[in-house]
Amino acid sequence: MSSEGRLIVVSNRLPLTLRRAGEAWRTERSSGGLASALDPVLKRTRGLWLGWPGDSAGEDPVRAEHLAGWQRKHGYVAVELPADVARNFYEGYANQTLWPLFHNFPTNIEFDPAGWTAYVEANRRFRDAVLEALQPGDLVWVHDYQLMLLPGLLREARPSAAIGFFLHIPFPASEMFRILPRRSELLRGLLGADLLAFQTHADLQHFRASLLRICGTESRMDRVKGEAYHTRLEALPIGIAPDEFLRFIEKDKSTQQAFEEHRRRFEGLKILLAVDRLDYTKGIPHRLRTFRRLLERAPRLRGKVVLVQVAVPSRERIPLYEELRHEVSELVGEINGEFGTPQWTPVVYMRRGIARSELVALYAAADVGWVTPLRDGMNLVAKEYVACQRRAEGVLLLSEFAGAAAEMGEAFLVNPYDEDGTAEVLERILDLPLEDRRERMAALHRRVHRNTVFTWSERFVSLLREAASDQARRNGEQPARLPVGELAAAFRRARGRVLFLDYDGTLVPFANTPREASPPAALVSLLSRLGTLPDTATTLISGRARADLEAWFGDTPGLWLVAEHGAMLRRPAGTGWELTRPSIPVAWKDRVRPVLEHFVDRTPGSFVEEKDYALVFHYRMADPVFGEWLANELVSNLEELLAETELRAIRGQKSVEVRLVWTNKGEMISRVEAGLPAVDFRLAVGDDSTDEDLFERLPEDAWTVHVGHGTSHARYCLSGPHEVVAVLDELAGL
Ligand code: ADP
Ligand code: F6P
Repeated sequence: MSSEGRLIVVSNRLPLTLRRAGEAWRTERSSGGLASALDPVLKRTRGLWLGWPGDSAGEDPVRAEHLAGWQRKHGYVAVELPADVARNFYEGYANQTLWPLFHNFPTNIEFDPAGWTAYVEANRRFRDAVLEALQPGDLVWVHDYQLMLLPGLLREARPSAAIGFFLHIPFPASEMFRILPRRSELLRGLLGADLLAFQTHADLQHFRASLLRICGTESRMDRVKGEAYHTRLEALPIGIAPDEFLRFIEKDKSTQQAFEEHRRRFEGLKILLAVDRLDYTKGIPHRLRTFRRLLERAPRLRGKVVLVQVAVPSRERIPLYEELRHEVSELVGEINGEFGTPQWTPVVYMRRGIARSELVALYAAADVGWVTPLRDGMNLVAKEYVACQRRAEGVLLLSEFAGAAAEMGEAFLVNPYDEDGTAEVLERILDLPLEDRRERMAALHRRVHRNTVFTWSERFVSLLREAASDQARRNGEQPARLPVGELAAAFRRARGRVLFLDYDGTLVPFANTPREASPPAALVSLLSRLGTLPDTATTLISGRARADLEAWFGDTPGLWLVAEHGAMLRRPAGTGWELTRPSIPVAWKDRVRPVLEHFVDRTPGSFVEEKDYALVFHYRMADPVFGEWLANELVSNLEELLAETELRAIRGQKSVEVRLVWTNKGEMISRVEAGLPAVDFRLAVGDDSTDEDLFERLPEDAWTVHVGHGTSHARYCLSGPHEVVAVLDELAGL
């Protein structure tokens, strides 16, 4: 990783957790994939890691001494959360609302508004901690669902900071995500990041679908263009540090000892190993029932196999976790009671955290790695098991609902809900010839060694640098805010003035249907005041049909009207419309209309607008996901039909317009100016790509104004129609 700027990792948990043990304090290794994956990365990069120490005891000198030691030795900075915030945030919104929902357990969701308040408060406290540490050039890397508001909060406070976000857990399908109270705040929070990465492509696609369905925001596969900022999107599956595990096996005495002990203890038995946090997403009861099915259907395996289940206690104050603990203990008891003998215990159950050496020894000794979560972002246990299979003799049994399944095709993939089916696969696996096992495991080895946590984090960091510097470049290209005082002075000094004003999105906001965006009386009166100023040509230059402009502005004195993006023009004195070219073809409409109508038939809420020289398919009121998909379909259908014609299908704001390629707003400049003696002031205001044609063709000293955020050929910008109207009002009063 390059040395420029520090890496600031921010996650709810630090790799160490502090626990009170009577009067004293105990430091424990945190469980969970995030901490185990990132710790080696931070050790290499020597950055900072900001996180909650796992308790909220407040003032206590011994505790403070512990935390200061963490910072000195490891660069871990504790983010303090008051006890009630921590409880409602961590046990509330994060783990009783987001966690079950994101893992497809909607019936497990509890939503308490106090949980949301605490979630916001906790994210704010993390923001303050980051701001305190942040130095110019640093990269901020936020992790996981507990901190989804943080990118947005940081962006607000430090618009130019480099902010990345990685989601370790799955992103649910939009049907599921939309259940979530406060869903749009979360999406907006995420869009504060320069780079937003997910474990799999499926997660990324689910995120895009939710964004479209809930916020109506369209995106591309690799980015979301926000109003002011863009967010780069990536699927970046996390890896592990495989060499660290090998080092334990090869060099660590206690690991080697533990390995020998396991061999002795389980001699003559095939070891099926499962390692999970004690969480309902991990499918532990399903596994135990599957094991029972195995023993029932294959009595020959009794006394020949053992299931070693390590379950690391987790989130113990949440009732569902407590219930799970009882359910698992009961099932273990039942199976051991039913099948066990004085010489053989079918299930060895360890409900506690175990030392790394013991864990690695188990991975190395196990014949089957049994990794069958009901849903999991990635599941690192699967990768750790593979890394420790040095002789490549073991087999990985993997749930198709773990993110790891997208990468680890050589594992035996099963549906953990299908307990009979999984038992059948297990029975087969236990007889798999050595060569087959070696071939599969060797392929998995290559994967785990190719995509390590280091390659993963280096890729994330380099993408983040790239995304942040693109952002900075884009910001540099963004037009400056319109200096209204200077504009007014130039307007007052000028002898001949031309105003080009777009309509929709510039003078009025967008409405559901074109007809609904009719002008308020104040706007008509403003335009008529501008239209009657001396030595001034005020031009309404719009993509609208002639009929709309006539109906709304036909009687406005002194106003020039340009309809259909420059296809035709009406002078203030005259009543007739002039065409840009002597004749404009329309016969094509009969071929194109049926295609658009076919799409309308398939899309509730959509309709076709017929202009004199254009046809427009509108889908603003259609289901956003379906509408977007259909618009893409329509454009590609039309491309074929319109090839080698003068017609183009152009994507607009929730619309697809078919029109002649040469109808262009820029074409109209000379016609309007021809009637004036000496033009020394030009103002053009518009919000979309058709206005860019105008900005590009005007001379450099013209006052070109883009409405909205983002890049433009215009020199200046204003934020929306309300600001445009205020500026015009000022000019009209001069
Ligand atoms: P999750 O993040 O949901 O807990 P993962 O399978 O991705 O699931 O990660 C579990 C991680 O917890 C693995 O890296 C594993 O090595 C680690 N782990 C397992 N047992 C312990 C333990 N006793 N103490 C700390 N970490 C453990
Ligand atoms: O990877 C999922 C994850 O929730 C991490 O964010 C978290 O640190 C880990 O699992 C363990 O959960 P907890 O921090 O609630 O103990």
